Amino acid sequence: MTDLTPMYLRDYQESVYQIPKVDLTIELDDERTLVRSSMTVERNTNRVEQDVLVLDGHDMELVTIHIDGVLLSTDQYQVSQESLIINHCPGNFVLTIETMINPKANTALEGIYKSGGAFCSQCEAEGFRRITYFLDRPDVMSIYTTTIIADKDKYPFLLSNGNCIERKDLEHGKHLVSWHDPFHKPCYLFALVAGDFDLLEDAFTTKSGRNVDLQLFVDKGNLFKAHYAMQALKDSMAWDEQVFDLEYDLDIYMIVAVDFFNMGAMENKGLNVFNSKYVLADERSATDDDFFNIQAVIGHEYFHNWTGNRVTCRDWFQLSLKEGLTVFRDQQFSADMHQKDVTRINNVRVLRAHQFAEDAGPMAHPIRPEKVVEMNNFYTLTVYEKGSEVIRMLHTLLGETGFQRGIKEYIARHDGQAVTCDDFINAMADANDRDLSQFSLWYSQVGTPQVHANATYDLQSKSLSLRLSQTPGAGQQHPPLLIPIGFELLNPKTGETMRQGVLSLSDAAQTFEFEELALQPVIALLTGFSAPVKLDFPQSNDDLLRIMTSANDGFSRWEASQSLFRQCIANYYKDTGYRLPDSLQQAFANILDADIEPAFKALQITLPGFAEMTEFLQDVEPQRLLAALEQFEQDLLNSQTAKLTSIYQQCTERLFGDSEQASGLRALKNACLHYLAGDEDFDGEVVSQFRQARNMTEQIAALNAAAQYNLPSFENINNAFAEQWQEDTLVMDKWFAIQAKVQDGNIFERLQSLLSHPKFSMENPNRVRSLVGSFANSNPKYFHDPSGKGYEWLATQIAILDKINPQVASRLITGLIQGQGFCQEVQSRLRKQLAGLQKLENISADIGEKISAALA
Ligand code: ARG
Ligand code: ZN
Repeated sequence: MTDLTPMYLRDYQESVYQIPKVDLTIELDDERTLVRSSMTVERNTNRVEQDVLVLDGHDMELVTIHIDGVLLSTDQYQVSQESLIINHCPGNFVLTIETMINPKANTALEGIYKSGGAFCSQCEAEGFRRITYFLDRPDVMSIYTTTIIADKDKYPFLLSNGNCIERKDLEHGKHLVSWHDPFHKPCYLFALVAGDFDLLEDAFTTKSGRNVDLQLFVDKGNLFKAHYAMQALKDSMAWDEQVFDLEYDLDIYMIVAVDFFNMGAMENKGLNVFNSKYVLADERSATDDDFFNIQAVIGHEYFHNWTGNRVTCRDWFQLSLKEGLTVFRDQQFSADMHQKDVTRINNVRVLRAHQFAEDAGPMAHPIRPEKVVEMNNFYTLTVYEKGSEVIRMLHTLLGETGFQRGIKEYIARHDGQAVTCDDFINAMADANDRDLSQFSLWYSQVGTPQVHANATYDLQSKSLSLRLSQTPGAGQQHPPLLIPIGFELLNPKTGETMRQGVLSLSDAAQTFEFEELALQPVIALLTGFSAPVKLDFPQSNDDLLRIMTSANDGFSRWEASQSLFRQCIANYYKDTGYRLPDSLQQAFANILDADIEPAFKALQITLPGFAEMTEFLQDVEPQRLLAALEQFEQDLLNSQTAKLTSIYQQCTERLFGDSEQASGLRALKNACLHYLAGDEDFDGEVVSQFRQARNMTEQIAALNAAAQYNLPSFENINNAFAEQWQEDTLVMDKWFAIQAKVQDGNIFERLQSLLSHPKFSMENPNRVRSLVGSFANSNPKYFHDPSGKGYEWLATQIAILDKINPQVASRLITGLIQGQGFCQEVQSRLRKQLAGLQKLENISADIGEKISAALA
């Protein structure tokens, strides 16, 4: 039976032993890698009575154990599935352990495994225990010296954390390389890579004059795709110096791109390992979104060097300490490198479409979880994205200067330590002489809070009174939160901004008064999306139109158009005979005509999607919602075909010029295409966009549109695409993702045959996410097929995958467990699949935890 016993934050205890120093020698072999670990072990002085050492370990063969050079006999220790227990240990000693591991058989991709021809490692959260027996917890921090031995021809590069201290050739064609990392670190930041790569080298001089070698390792033949990532790294280093006054601290920074990776990337000290998807890009094969994401992830991992590595987490419940803060930092970096408003709006779209659903679902947890079965299940949108929103609120409350003062204090206090979210809040509070105790409730509340607003204007006294109240989200009751509410008061006639600022809502209900307002203003609330809440503030179409055209705040201008759309879609949903009102036609036309940035316009005409609308409505019948979305889109197209076509053409023409704004124009062009392809007459245009595309953004958008509407040209260009890109792994991932989205009644046969496609493999997470993930997340029509076939297909794949890679299986299960927004029939069909999965023999803790939460 799988052990699903949770660990609780409240049970945290300091480690009895520490391991200040570790020397590792790793002799790499596909199936028999020998790991020798020699550790200095020290007992905590206030725990003299405790002489039993319990080390974590998983899935490996124990070869020998020595204490101070003396071999232990088998009666001096016990080995179980998850641990090695050594009885009667001295207070201080050298512990040497040899283990044997099998990287080739490691399909879970945790610990040391093979990606293509290379060895690589992934230790966060608890992968180090698959390499050797250790105190695998982040509050045990050590100085590492790592020696790697491997065949020299096959593995010319042997990499680990820190600085290279020795290199020599050995007999039998082997060689040895040693690395020393001068910084204390938890074992989750340990990394090892061995392989044959192409290397891109560059350098960066920090502002205090340190020379840093920058090395980017990619699969042979991919060097031409490495330049953008290198530039992104240099930009990240410069940005962190300018904005946070933080410099890099080693003489070398290495990034390795691998094809087999469970997540995006990993911030191992001095040796980041990346999913190749977040490194490799060139114009022809990568989209504008790919470039954006590469820069963001390179930045994210780089920024971890201070927020995560130099100051780390005491325990895994504190994960948001490093992740929420580092996401905030990468979002600010992206905002500075691109258009601020556009970046912010995209952050909010992710949060509202996906984090809100998680926060309302069976796995809902605070940004600092209190109860965990499988830690890998908590690398969530809540910990990362909502965590970042919490940091952003702090930034709003303290201002940039106060925020930076707090960060300085946090780092000064805790450099080299493993700390808690409370330590972070305390540093921010003390540095600014503020009481943040109410604010800190954000770390323990569950669910998305609602803020209700109600405004009355009194002509006589020329005053506006704004009543705000808050109710907790799906979670438990809790005392009122401190919620910063950005606002802007607009002159209804001229659109001029009369007042703007931030209100602090700290009570269950509060009234804010505004005096001396000559006329009743239009109110934009929650400007900049100042808090991760749902706002309930009914506004007239006229008010929304005023905000849409006149607010200073870009988020509010966009949000006003989205409110109009959401309201309208809700009407289509409720009444199948509903048709587009003139006011909406006009509003849509106004957006199309407006003289605004193309990237912004693209966002304004992009409708709220299926996931976001599911959050907005109740007891959703999926097919009915899809029909409403489709009809609304069709009506918008019919009402504005001419304008959409002309913008589409203008963008195309301007793209041939030498435009800096190219990515914005492409976004706008493709947003128009999304509508226009709804008319079969546009098929020819789609084909020419596909054929004339000079970059992936345009090419894939054409193919995607053809798949979305199953246009006559689809099969043709689909095959051409596969033919053209068959050798490019990352582009083939895009191709698989599109196959899963085709709007075609034969989709299930299609999916089935794709599973046996020569280029499909259940062992490659990117491929699996492309095919299985894209079906479950981006093909709502067939995923929610009334027959239940979509759910069944997903459940079948999860059952297979759970045996291969539980972490990936667990990420894909979201579509089955987050049914709370749907009607009862859907929920019971989903439960049926979950109940079937629950009976799996040897079910992983990863999916086991989620299924039992969903069925509870
Ligand atoms: N710390 C990494 C990042 O945020 C994520 C790695 C998590 N890996 C995992 N297997 N849970 O960049
Ligand atoms: Zn991170």
